Amino acid sequence: MSDMHLISLTHLQDAMRLLVRGFGSQPDEVEAVVCNLIDANLTGHDSHGIGMLPRYAKSFLEGGLSPNTGVRVVLDSGTLLRLDGQAGFGQVVGAQAMALGIERAQARGSCIVALGNAHHLGRIGAWAEQAAAAGLVSMHFVNVISRAIVAPHGGADARFGTNPFCAGVPLPGRPPVILDFATSAIAQGKTRVAHNKGVAVEAGQLIDDRGQPTTNPRYTVVPPFGALLTFGGELGGHKGYGLALMCELLGGALAAGLTCHEPADGRMRVLNGMFSVLLDPAALGGTAAFEDQAQAFLDWVQASPAREGFGAVQVAGDAERSYRAARTQAGVVVDNTTWGEILEAARSLGVDPGAVAAAAGVN
Ligand SMILES: NC(=O)c1ccc[n+]([C@@H]2O[C@H](COP(=O)([O-])OP(=O)(O)OC[C@H]3O[C@@H](n4cnc5c(N)ncnc54)[C@H](O)[C@@H]3O)[C@@H](O)[C@H]2O)c1
Repeated sequence: MSDMHLISLTHLQDAMRLLVRGFGSQPDEVEAVVCNLIDANLTGHDSHGIGMLPRYAKSFLEGGLSPNTGVRVVLDSGTLLRLDGQAGFGQVVGAQAMALGIERAQARGSCIVALGNAHHLGRIGAWAEQAAAAGLVSMHFVNVISRAIVAPHGGADARFGTNPFCAGVPLPGRPPVILDFATSAIAQGKTRVAHNKGVAVEAGQLIDDRGQPTTNPRYTVVPPFGALLTFGGELGGHKGYGLALMCELLGGALAAGLTCHEPADGRMRVLNGMFSVLLDPAALGGTAAFEDQAQAFLDWVQASPAREGFGAVQVAGDAERSYRAARTQAGVVVDNTTWGEILEAARSLGVDPGAVAAAAGVN
């Protein structure tokens, strides 16, 4: 069997629909989960794509993930919404939370959405894209309830998750600017891939179980655990740490009422808390100046000549769009370790792994 499988988009969708039905999900939920995860693969973020399904299956079998669940409105004061995701698929409750917030922001100018108890929300950029498609600016601060994996700047062990920050700005006549990243120096999924391949990661991103710098990815994958550093690394990590802290305070404490502050309990669930601000730029007045100045600024920064070793200057969101265009045509490459884990997840859900492999066209 080859180390890599190139799977066309339609084959991958068919295969993942089979697998996700194994959660007992209704057809709309199957589509939401499959489309969102595959879109993460298409946009270049394999760490948040179909490779998450084995983790979701373990979480479900332990009772940590509740299929066919929607958001419950806990508080609704017009432009403030507090929502309980009820441990439903993040792909479903995230979209519902955004849809509710979008409706309010379009009617009233702005809305703050506090979403707690959502199972893994996947690629947070998907939520900013949903808001941008409705003409709204958005910001999202997200915390992660799972085994802590990132060390505070200057700290010797892991105390929180890869807490992502995301912001989106729609502009007429050009694709939206979508900034979306983990506040760790490197994504957790990337260290797992490096560990599986037996290769080192770049210096300045990890510490070992004694708090010493290391390039060995094992320290985030198998015990004894070390930690990821925050982005900025050894020198500038206080900046990534500061943003991670705000994600925990806003996404965790304020929005979800749940922060990471205890040793791991061994459960496989991944919960996200998300604090989102949605704004209709027109409601703030000065639309023409906003659009003209934003366009002028983006043109100006992109006119900077490329430094040696770099391509043309991009803005946030370009990378995902270019991956999406290429992979939609070419298909998605899935490594054999991940593929094996996906088939095992199918088996654990009572789905015939042979049927999943056949639907994907993988022998
Ligand atoms: N749900 C969760 O618990 C969770 C936790 C952590 C991360 N995530 C997700 O993981 C994904 C990956 O995060 P990451 O930190 O690996 O992302 P990353 O390091 O690939 O950074 C992505 C961001 O940088 C921009 N970018 C990339 N190259 C650029 C360039 N040359 N010039 C300008 N901008 C550029 C992209 O457009 C994007 O906005 C994100 O979608 C994030 O939401 C989710």
